[in-house]
Amino acid sequence: MNYKQQVIDFYNARTNYDNDVTRNRAIALFDYTSAQPGQSVLDVAAGTGNIAIGAAKRVGANGFVIGIDIATELLKIAQQKIQNENLSNVQLIEVGAEVYEASNQFDAIYCSYAIVLFPDISAILHKWYRFLKPDGFVAFTCSSENSYFALSIVEACAKHGITLPNLHEPLGTPTRIQHLLTQANFSQIEIHPRQLGTYLTLEEATSRWNGQFWLHQNNPLLELEPEKIRQIKASYDDAIAALERDRGVWHEELIYYVVARKIAENFEFSR
Ligand SMILES: C[S@@+](CC[C@H](N)C(=O)[O-])C[C@H]1O[C@@H](n2cnc3c(N)ncnc32)[C@H](O)[C@@H]1O
Repeated sequence: MNYKQQVIDFYNARTNYDNDVTRNRAIALFDYTSAQPGQSVLDVAAGTGNIAIGAAKRVGANGFVIGIDIATELLKIAQQKIQNENLSNVQLIEVGAEVYEASNQFDAIYCSYAIVLFPDISAILHKWYRFLKPDGFVAFTCSSENSYFALSIVEACAKHGITLPNLHEPLGTPTRIQHLLTQANFSQIEIHPRQLGTYLTLEEATSRWNGQFWLHQNNPLLELEPEKIRQIKASYDDAIAALERDRGVWHEELIYYVVARKIAENFEFSR
């Protein structure tokens, strides 16, 4: 199955995606930057529409919001919420972030909890820069490279000779975020870390193994026999057990809320 279809199937099956946690962690982006009345907004990977709806209320009747996603089932939920809220300034489009071409420029582009799913992050940032009006901004979230036990998962695979690329690696440190955004011509880069981690019981922590569900292009774990996965999972369990302390196992969920701008003079310069 190709990568895009894998992502579509994964998210189409998550019709219980919307809850207070997923909503609050998404709309927290508005704490750092907010679209203004009359502005145009693109919500990339809109999912169940939390950002799109929040933005639609902020831009008001004179502004508009376009939300794009590839998961039909999540878009249906978003559409229902938009109808319930009686919002007429949001349009949802079922289209991949990589192929979407805007017919207008935007004041703001949001992307919550999705950017690491795009196989070419540099290309998508360049595209967003092109989509923005001068002085427009992009706002997205990404996670530290060790969030969600990512390093323990990668190390357990390595012990068994399997190289599993870390899904959170490309935007997993402030330096890398800064670098990729600068390469795409963005300036005034703000990176706001928020620690959403908690202590888990050992049982909860070992159950967080999810290596074969990482949505990578060519996840090597998908090719393995169940017995090999069982061996890797056993190594992961050992590594997690070694992290247990009095309060349990620390589960890092360090989220970077990132805002960057397309500054007018850079725009003039790069033309
Ligand atoms: C973790 S959810 C986040 C949804 C929403 N932004 C939020 O924060 O609640 C990831 C979303 O990314 C979408 N997605 C993944 N790859 C995509 C792509 N190439 N183009 C558009 N949407 C994509 C999925 O369908 C899913 O809705």
